[in-house]
Amino acid sequence: MPRGYQKAIRADITTLHVDVIVNAANSSLLGGGGVDGAIHRAAGPELVGECRLLGGCNTGDAKITKAYRLPARHIIHTVGPVWRGGAHGEAALLASCYKRSIELATQAGARSIAFPAISTGIYGYPKEQAAPIAVAEAEGIDEVIFCCFSEDDLAIYERLLSRRPYTCT
Ligand code: APR
Repeated sequence: MPRGYQKAIRADITTLHVDVIVNAANSSLLGGGGVDGAIHRAAGPELVGECRLLGGCNTGDAKITKAYRLPARHIIHTVGPVWRGGAHGEAALLASCYKRSIELATQAGARSIAFPAISTGIYGYPKEQAAPIAVAEAEGIDEVIFCCFSEDDLAIYERLLSRRPYTCT
């Protein structure tokens, strides 16, 4: 029986006071555009210094760092799949991003975690196909927040979550 509950909000993930925020990174872990760029800008230069020591990250995997100037306690950097039409294992790799992030957050003792919509920006994963994977895989932590950056994204997640049975804590 999964523990905790899930909710969707519209916010800038760098502002959230949660135990863990998840970054949609690239395999170098050295920063980029989108939410990756926003997180590195807000966390400050010490973040890339720690990331340099991690030796990169494979698609579908995740690594954890401190959060430095962010209100969160940790950042989990995960590398989502680039959308190549859907027949190249993208769904399994995206599911793995959420699973691995939850595993690392659980090991770190996190009670709350916020996810951006991994792979649905620069990596082109269709939002309507990514959201059900996120909702199905991102559970097991007391509070799971899907941090949407647009009203469209929020509407997709709210529609999905309204159909889910409430999971008891
Ligand atoms: N807070 C929350 N969500 C955000 C923020 C923010 N500050 N900025 C962007 N987003 C949203 C985007 O609107 C999108 O819904 O994060 C989601 C993921 O989009 P991207 O950041 O483009 O990430 P992704 O599609 O996984 O591509 C990863 O982009 O930034 C580079 O280095 C990164 O190469 C990697 C690639």
